[in-house]
Formats: sequence, structure tokens, C-alpha cells
Amino acid sequence: MMAFTYFFRDVQTLELACEHALPVLKTRRYINIWDAGCAMGPEPYTLAMLLRERMGHMYFRNVRITATDIDESNLFGKIISEGVYPRKQVERIPRDFLERYFEKAAQDDHYRVIEEIRRALVFRRHDLLELKAPGNEFGLIICKNVLLHFNEDQRIKVIEMFHDSLMEGGFLAFEQTQSLPRKTAHLFKPVVTNAQLFQKVV
Ligand SMILES: C[S@@+](CC[C@H](N)C(=O)[O-])C[C@H]1O[C@@H](n2cnc3c(N)ncnc32)[C@H](O)[C@@H]1O
Repeated sequence: MMAFTYFFRDVQTLELACEHALPVLKTRRYINIWDAGCAMGPEPYTLAMLLRERMGHMYFRNVRITATDIDESNLFGKIISEGVYPRKQVERIPRDFLERYFEKAAQDDHYRVIEEIRRALVFRRHDLLELKAPGNEFGLIICKNVLLHFNEDQRIKVIEMFHDSLMEGGFLAFEQTQSLPRKTAHLFKPVVTNAQLFQKVV
């Protein structure tokens, strides 16, 4: 499957996830987030920047985003930890975000995510279909443009795994076109009508 992705993709869902999850997660020592199927980083980095906008420097230090992908190329870990992207890929980023959260990289025509944002992310190679979560007590799980490639049975099992690895009252977000399969509907309640954002209820 091609790792198609870009910065600020469907920012509405990510903004809504931050807006609804933060008040619930603020009570915790750490804000643990899992971005499942993160590709080479634009999505978890966008999320980190949106969170930083809403949080002070001190408080943002408690954010831990576990970014995972099956990563058939075996390159994503290096790309994400370096946080260096060619100009073409950062062009969609609103100017004020680009100015605040990127610096010129050593390489010509490349930009690097600043350290404050980079250190919020940890990448792990991980196959969702092995059905073993890379942690537990997550406050928010983002899984966008991945489940559509799985069959119905696989989707249900993966969503049950997400449910098990979320804290009580934790949040789960998909892309706009991915609804919650009927067999898992009792595990979550919809949070908004304009995004696929759910909250764990049982
Ligand atoms: C279309 S990209 C989506 C990237 C990002 N979430 C977004 O929405 O922009 C799909 C990603 O899912 C990953 N993927 C595919 N199968 C997977 C699996 N079984 N476990 C984990 N990641 C997988 C691919 O490697 C790819 O990076």
C-alpha cells in the first residue's frame, strides 16, 4: 500500500480530536497518543503542532505520540526522527506554523521540524494486523486512511484492539469516510457530527 500522506491533511478531524480530547487528558500526568499508520510523519507532526498551539511549552512536554507504521520501506523511523522534509512537502503548511515549528535544514531546500516538536514523537515499526497494541492507556488514537485497506473482520479486530488500549473516556479518530463498523458501535459514542471522532464508553 502506498504511504500517501501530507502535512495538514484533513486538519478538521485533527483539530476536533485535540479540542475534545485535551480537556479530558489534562488530568493525566502524560498525554499518550497513538498515531497508527503514520506513514513518514506529516500526520503525527501536524498533530503535535496543533497540540503545541493549544498548550504551553511546559505542558506540551507531557505529550508522547507513539507513531507506528508497518513501514515496508524501512525508512520511516529515520525520516521521523530526523524530521527533515523537502520544500515541496512543507508547502501546504500554513505560513505561521512553518515559521514557528520548522527551521532551515542543512540540506538545500529542506526544512527541519524543531526539536521541541520532534521530541514529542517516537516511531515504532508495527503491524496493526498482529493485533498487539504498542502500549496501553492511550488518551487518543488516530488511525486515518489505513482501515479502508483491511477487510471487515480485520477492521473489527483492529478497532477492538484500539478500544482495549484506550484509557477510560479515551478518543479514537478515523478519516471522514471511515465509519465505525456496527459490531463495534457499542464500544464508543460519536463525539461530533462533522468528523469520525469517537469516545470510549465501556
Ligand atoms: C495512505 S497512508 C495514511 C497515512 C496517514 N495516516 C494519513 O492519513 O495521511 C497508509 C499507511 O498505512 C500503513 N499500513 C498499511 N498496512 C498496515 C498495517 N498492517 N499495519 C500498520 N500500518 C499499515 C502504510 O504503510 C501507510 O503508511
